[in-house]
Amino acid sequence: MTTLKFRNNDEMPILGLGTFRSEPNEVYNSVLSAIKIGYRHIDCAAAYGNEKEVGNAIAEAIKQGLITREDLWVTSKLWNASHGEENVIPALNQTLEDLQLDYLDLYLIHWPVVLKKGTEMPEKASDFIPLSEVPLTNTWKGMEAALEQGLTKHIGVSNFNENQLKEIIASAVHKPEMNQVEMHPFLQQKELKALCSHFDMHLTAYAPLGSLVDENAALRLLENDTIINIAYLRNMSPAQVALAYTMQRGIAVIPKSINEKRLLQNLETINYTLTEEDTALLKDLDKGHRFIDGKFWEVDNGPYTADSIWNA
Ligand code: A2P
Repeated sequence: MTTLKFRNNDEMPILGLGTFRSEPNEVYNSVLSAIKIGYRHIDCAAAYGNEKEVGNAIAEAIKQGLITREDLWVTSKLWNASHGEENVIPALNQTLEDLQLDYLDLYLIHWPVVLKKGTEMPEKASDFIPLSEVPLTNTWKGMEAALEQGLTKHIGVSNFNENQLKEIIASAVHKPEMNQVEMHPFLQQKELKALCSHFDMHLTAYAPLGSLVDENAALRLLENDTIINIAYLRNMSPAQVALAYTMQRGIAVIPKSINEKRLLQNLETINYTLTEEDTALLKDLDKGHRFIDGKFWEVDNGPYTADSIWNA
């Protein structure tokens, strides 16, 4: 499978399995089926509430001899309630215990948003801590310590904007190697992509299929006319067109599925190449539309707004 190469020559399969919104009872079968058919990259997060079940599936796949630990690339993410240098390694150790692993391949700061310890999803201003009190550079020191202790092979961030990336990079001993952000044909993130390549960082696209079905038909990615026409011409599905386009831009994709047919369909995208004509049409679909809009971090008198997260 095509891979993205990291600075030490480690290679991450460009297509992985997403596990966000896979219910605990669904995710075990999703991960085990995915590994059986050839997925070698699983994207997880403590906040998804299903790492124990993901861990059980990975352990079962190893037990069945389908893979060894080294064959698999596993990413996870530090939850917002564990920002701060001293909280990173304890949080990572919990994730490792849940996943039944000795190390991660990649550990990311999930959001540039700090929550009080123990908060799952915030409801009021006092659930938050402003970044001025726990700077991202402080949390990054904990990420670097995790790397140096061998608990993870690579470190990075998720949902970080240009200023936040620059802030961390300015003082980092180990610079972030990944920014995982929402990306698909409706949100192509061209400026962020240019910035990340300047800093020798990779990008992973979350919600690469447009994630939720939008009420507004014009915003349903997989029902877009251009995508459907290309799919018809190339004998692909609309989902494959969306995934192939993002991968051809050198960006990893982590489509989530709990359905065996769709898992296989998504994986098979690696066998397709879109033509220049196709990619030119797809390039024009960019409308800066976010399905995950970040408004859930906005509460009355709270320290974060969606705009401050995406654009500050
Ligand atoms: P399901 O898990 O039932 O397959 P994203 O990764 O962008 O968040 O999108 C995930 C959503 O897209 C899920 O609802 C998932 O449903 C659905 N999905 C995954 N693969 C495909 C596919 N090949 N075609 C259509 N829908 C898909």
